[in-house]
Amino acid sequence: PVTRRSALALLGGAGAAALAVPAGRSAEAVPTRRPLTHEVALVANERPYVLPAFPQKPLPFWLYGEAPFPTIRVTKGDRIRARLTNRLPEHTSIHWHGLRIANGMDGIPWLTQPPTRPGESFLYDFIPPDAGTFFFHPHCDEIGQVGRGLEGLLIVDDAEPGPYAVDHVLAVRDWRIDAEKGAFLPFTTDQGAARAGTFGTLRSVNGRHQPDFAVPTGGYARIRILSVDPTRIMEIGVEGAEAAIIAVDGFAVGPLPLESWRMSMAMRLDIAIRVREPGATARLVDYFGSAPTTLATFTAAGGTGTAGDFAPPPLAPHGLPEPDLANAETIPFTFSASSIAGAVPEPIVLPDGRVYDPADTLCLSGSTFWAINRQSWPGHGATGLPQPLATLKLGRTYVFELLNTTPHSHPVHIHGFGAKVLECSRLARPMHRADTVLLTTKERIRLAFVADNPGDWMFHCHILEHQETGMMGIIRVA
Ligand code: C2O
Ligand code: CU
Repeated sequence: PVTRRSALALLGGAGAAALAVPAGRSAEAVPTRRPLTHEVALVANERPYVLPAFPQKPLPFWLYGEAPFPTIRVTKGDRIRARLTNRLPEHTSIHWHGLRIANGMDGIPWLTQPPTRPGESFLYDFIPPDAGTFFFHPHCDEIGQVGRGLEGLLIVDDAEPGPYAVDHVLAVRDWRIDAEKGAFLPFTTDQGAARAGTFGTLRSVNGRHQPDFAVPTGGYARIRILSVDPTRIMEIGVEGAEAAIIAVDGFAVGPLPLESWRMSMAMRLDIAIRVREPGATARLVDYFGSAPTTLATFTAAGGTGTAGDFAPPPLAPHGLPEPDLANAETIPFTFSASSIAGAVPEPIVLPDGRVYDPADTLCLSGSTFWAINRQSWPGHGATGLPQPLATLKLGRTYVFELLNTTPHSHPVHIHGFGAKVLECSRLARPMHRADTVLLTTKERIRLAFVADNPGDWMFHCHILEHQETGMMGIIRVA
């Protein structure tokens, strides 16, 4: 059977909540729905853009299209054909964060594809295997490219209509803007890169200052929170509403009561909330740091209120394979400050004959501060691709034992897999699946996954300045 095609219009901006839905989607509702193929054009370019949170002046953003956070929304089973066209002055790529897709679609210049140079384009063609809340971003000069706004959102809906009629998407990030000069500030500093990172100056949700979202009085609303700031760590909570966690990194869990959840770059949290009284307003709050900050509000509209028990419906279970813990191999990974500055193994010639070109590694910082298992792979000054940190056997279960010896937290991300978080030594967390887990100061975390996806996969801290100053490596599955 021929799949129907849709040219997916991207809406962005302040409009992360206004989602692109292909025409005819609802008409194709279950049980007769056939998968669609979505043709998506992603033009990476510099655009003057007035950020709603900083209305004083347009700034030279780097965007996919015309506004921050363009959103691709598809249904599980649909195919995405996304063409990246590079109109930036440097090479780029797109990594589909959290998607368990073929290695060749993972978007890593030199490792899984050639860099997409200015004027060139690259076609990403895949079927997202999991429903959930995802995002996408470049995987080179991330400090500069994501710093200027180059990232987008990807929502994969379950094939069956979900239990939440109201579904809001909240991309939370800061911007490095000098409000007086009306200009971007430098996106990295050595002081920041060597410590907790260089923080933004202006906080936002979907590019706005404390936006309000309507929720049904006494009903359940799904709130998808994406932490997409290059640096910040948040402790997310809700005040003025009942709240429960229903997915982590897109993978269904619980519902589990939400007290607070610590999140850093690239982590996602889906929660269900209920505001009981008509007209009442609840707040999404970040408790991290000295004073709680309100990020967004939720105002109850319509209805007459409710006094019933809080019992948000669970999402459809995720389809990740269950790790075989009895036969797993354990591999330790130590996240440390760099002890061998700039140590990168021999240059290599890629399988297709291309030679890794050090002049092509773009990073604003020339420093090396961080390492995984004493090996540093900085984005700048590298003389070649490093040897893998570990080589895994296809199909086998592995337990990664992560240890943080530094005084800073590191959101550790593995490409290509959804890991089961088994045990955390410091921050209590229920067992859940994740692609990015926050390894807090001096913490030890054990996670397990089935190495069922062959290829060379990135494994790194997702604080962009840590990643680009050494805390990054390769896991090979063969
Ligand atoms: Cu969000 Cu290496 O990825
Ligand atoms: Cu880090």
